[in-house]
Amino acid sequence: MASPNSSPVAIVTGCASGIGLATAQVFLQEGYRVFGVDVSDLDFSKLGGQDANMGFKKANLTAEGMCEEVVKECIEKFGARIDVLANVAGVSDAFAAADTFTDVEFTRVMAINLTVPLHLMRAVLPVMKEQKSGAIINVASKSALSGAAAGVAYTASKHGLLGATKHTAWRFKDAGIRCNAVLPGGVATNIANSMQQQYFDMEAYTTLQPVHNLNTPQGKPLLVTPEHVANAIFFLASEKAKFISGAALPVDTAWSTI
Ligand SMILES: NC(=O)c1ccc[n+]([C@@H]2O[C@H](COP(=O)([O-])OP(=O)(O)OC[C@H]3O[C@@H](n4cnc5c(N)ncnc54)[C@H](O)[C@@H]3O)[C@@H](O)[C@H]2O)c1
Repeated sequence: MASPNSSPVAIVTGCASGIGLATAQVFLQEGYRVFGVDVSDLDFSKLGGQDANMGFKKANLTAEGMCEEVVKECIEKFGARIDVLANVAGVSDAFAAADTFTDVEFTRVMAINLTVPLHLMRAVLPVMKEQKSGAIINVASKSALSGAAAGVAYTASKHGLLGATKHTAWRFKDAGIRCNAVLPGGVATNIANSMQQQYFDMEAYTTLQPVHNLNTPQGKPLLVTPEHVANAIFFLASEKAKFISGAALPVDTAWSTI
């Protein structure tokens, strides 16, 4: 068991890339101890010299029992304290629609984007209930509110994640535990690499493109960076958001308004 330490502890999934990496960086800068998980390798040189406060487990979170294992190992490293769970890891679908999606793609996307966050919430809640405090932040998407931004699997997974967020917020409102979602629009990360190209549905994608162009016209750079989303996650975890729970916070330069 780790020696007593008063610094707060955050579990951050998907910490090797994009929004998860930026989230780990922000929490470390703000004095947290971070237990990160990713199926890919973490480049510790990106942590700005804060690696002493960083625990990392390379793991596929969809493996049976893995979410419980992550929480167990976090407690072994940092002690029985979990202040924050940031469910960031996620994958893109291939823009397939209800007439073209494959069971393989649907199962993969739902497992990573919805089942894993729920398993992790279930695994951290006993600790948070015991300490009578905790903040859970689920990274959803514009696709949690819109049917015109992604494929049917990703859209269903993120709508589901937002529902789970609201349910958890209400259920634990008197237990000192808050649960919120951030809804990024387009952010420059590696998420496109997670798409299984063989399932790409061009016809369906063409119907989404005008909506994407309203966020970022083709050829223009994305304005929102992983750090902008990480800052929103940190805000929702902080005392400054003390009575905010069950919220869905867009980080998308108003794309969510349409
Ligand atoms: N980038 C965007 O435009 C955008 C928009 C809206 C929402 N999001 C959401 O933001 C979150 C972070 O994505 P990102 O854009 O930073 O992408 P990213 O690909 O850069 O990072 C995602 C990370 O999750 C990890 N991961 C994927 N599957 C995993 C698994 N089974 N087990 C453990 N780790 C796994 C990947 O290895 C990767 O490091 C996702 O939930 C995504 O749906 C992204």
